[in-house]
Amino acid sequence: SRTPASAPPLLCPPPACGRPRMLNRMVGGQDAMEGEWPWQVSIQRNGSHFCGGSLVTERWVLTAAHCFPNTSETSLYQVLLGARQLVRPGPHAMYARVKRVESNPLYQGMASSADVALVELEEPVTFTDYILPVCMPDPSVIFETGTSCWVTGWGSPSEQDRLPNPRILQKLAVPIIGTPKCNLLYSKDAESGFQPQTIKDDMICAGFAEGKKDACKGDSGGPLVCLVGQSWMQAGVISWGEGCARQNRPGVYIRVTSHHNWIHRIIPELQFQRVGSSI
Ligand SMILES: *[C@@H]1O[C@H](CO)[C@@H](O)[C@H](O)[C@H]1NC(C)=O
Ligand SMILES: *[C@@H]1O[C@H](CO)[C@@H](O)[C@H](O)[C@H]1NC(C)=O
Repeated sequence: SRTPASAPPLLCPPPACGRPRMLNRMVGGQDAMEGEWPWQVSIQRNGSHFCGGSLVTERWVLTAAHCFPNTSETSLYQVLLGARQLVRPGPHAMYARVKRVESNPLYQGMASSADVALVELEEPVTFTDYILPVCMPDPSVIFETGTSCWVTGWGSPSEQDRLPNPRILQKLAVPIIGTPKCNLLYSKDAESGFQPQTIKDDMICAGFAEGKKDACKGDSGGPLVCLVGQSWMQAGVISWGEGCARQNRPGVYIRVTSHHNWIHRIIPELQFQRVGSSI
């Protein structure tokens, strides 16, 4: 439902996006710090984490469409916000119930375009030092090849293993890889009998040709964020990859700016950020 006519007008500017209040970053580390990625959420079904997501307003979470084979089962889902670890998430974390799930109608299955979904929370959340929105980039924002961005999630640390308890949020710096180079990498040593995957216009690659570091199972739907000026903007949604961290198979993300119109249609009040817009 759209904003009802009785909703109070926005008298003051909405709270800034993409500005964590906690600045105690761990350089070179893997474990995220408390409050470092305050937009990161865990989407859970019957108490089990299955996908990541990012808070974009007090009511909406951006994630991947492939996380929701059935968007009608809203009562089974819960969103965990403000958490650093999944086991005993602590006093800064909270669970929210799900009101509805909107999958992009253009999505056609694994590794296809438009793998984005929006999850509406039953109640708006109150922002805290640990629960804050990420910035949604205006389509004019370009994420240049080579830019170092960050991917975060509670996914598996390898194709075989599960993140050990207490399952602390992991962060990884990944450079943006240009689409021609990414297509070239994905065409290398294709397994016989498989059609090489192609990187569509609404996809963006990030990671390493040599493999070893990547997003993995359980990270899906989570954010790829880049620091633009002084704010973190979400460049991509974790979508797919062939395995995890394999050679010549960098992570593939859905470009947030490619789905600006769809996001705007579902969340008309969301403000998209331009480079240098004062927020
Ligand atoms: C939910 O989890 C409980 C406890 O882990 C389990 O017993 C139950 O079968 C699960 N229900 C569904 C629908 O998966
Ligand atoms: C989706 O979930 C709803 C609610 O549980 C159920 O009624 C419906 O049959 C499900 N649809 C499919 C295709 O599984």
